[in-house]
Amino acid sequence: MSLAPVTIAGTGSYLPEKVLTNADLETIVDTTDEWITSRTGIKARRIAAEGQSTSDLATEAAKKALAQANIAAEDLDLIIVATITPDTLTPATACYVQDNLEARKAVAFDISAACSGFLYAMEMARNLIGAGSFQNALIIGAEKLSAFTNWEDRNTCVLFGDGAGAAVLRKSEEGEGRILAMEIGTDGAQTGILNIPGGGSACPITIDNANDKLASLSMLGKEVFRHAVTRMKTAATKVVEEAGLESKDIAQVIPHQANLRIIDAIADRLTIDNDKVFVNLHKYGNTSAAAVAIALDEAAREGKFKRGENIVCVVFGAGLTWAAAAIEW
Ligand code: ACO
Repeated sequence: MSLAPVTIAGTGSYLPEKVLTNADLETIVDTTDEWITSRTGIKARRIAAEGQSTSDLATEAAKKALAQANIAAEDLDLIIVATITPDTLTPATACYVQDNLEARKAVAFDISAACSGFLYAMEMARNLIGAGSFQNALIIGAEKLSAFTNWEDRNTCVLFGDGAGAAVLRKSEEGEGRILAMEIGTDGAQTGILNIPGGGSACPITIDNANDKLASLSMLGKEVFRHAVTRMKTAATKVVEEAGLESKDIAQVIPHQANLRIIDAIADRLTIDNDKVFVNLHKYGNTSAAAVAIALDEAAREGKFKRGENIVCVVFGAGLTWAAAAIEW
């Protein structure tokens, strides 16, 4: 079945006010600004306020995307929130967002694909809109990772931050941009190298294990790094080819914001100059599903690419999952 083309009509992002710098972390765990900067490129991250949940961050980002798209919340018929830090295990965080926005007509649900979630949501929304099932979709990547971080573990607590990014998708009209090609993938054999082991049905939190901090992110960093470079390179190459593009046709690459060394390796393997690769992880750290969504919004608002130019988004996360999108803006 051929699908109607789908465009990104507006983007938005929201970062909580509180800034946690590397210097602040030096007072919490045995680390240094030098180690964090040289190994990751991260200088600071944002932390949600007491009482501020993932749906609150998501709602703020969504309002900005809706305003830019000039679409009223009541005209939305689909809301997908990508998150691994939901407000509650059930109902879905998207349901709280639907209520906050008073988007009464919208079907709302979450997807869990870690850092790849926003592009997974994009692929779902574009297929559902392209097939004619829905008209106006709001996709959001939102995380309050600070609530699932072991603040005594220097291997992980320096990496993550909170935030949200959103986009409104609808059918592309004549003369508008469109999503050209998408690729999403999963390798379930690697669930053990990056996960939140506790708090689910496999390992409920009990009085006996409450102090073990099992409901926090755990990662074999080197393994994840290796897979990230390979999978992101392959996914990005595929969508570029499928879209009929070459490296020279790409105005900007917007990669997952986990580690500057991963980003540099991807740019190198795609033979893209570093000035065409968007980076904001020094300000926000890794915000998982929110990262590429926030980066897309910031890059667009900073004028890194114009209408008619091509961009490539590429991500990687727990699952393992990966995804890429080639988009004519
Ligand atoms: N400060 C100081 N020293 C530290 C810190 C810290 N914060 N953290 C670890 N170290 C130490 C380690 O203990 C180790 O010491 P040792 O040699 O005495 O044992 C040493 O530094 C080296 O540690 P490595 O793990 O070898 O460091 P590496 O260079 O691999 O960097 C990192 C670690 C930054 C985590 C990197 O592997 C990475 O970025 N991996 C990929 C992460 C990623 O992409 N995640 C994406 C998905 S996230 C998601 O889906 C939610």
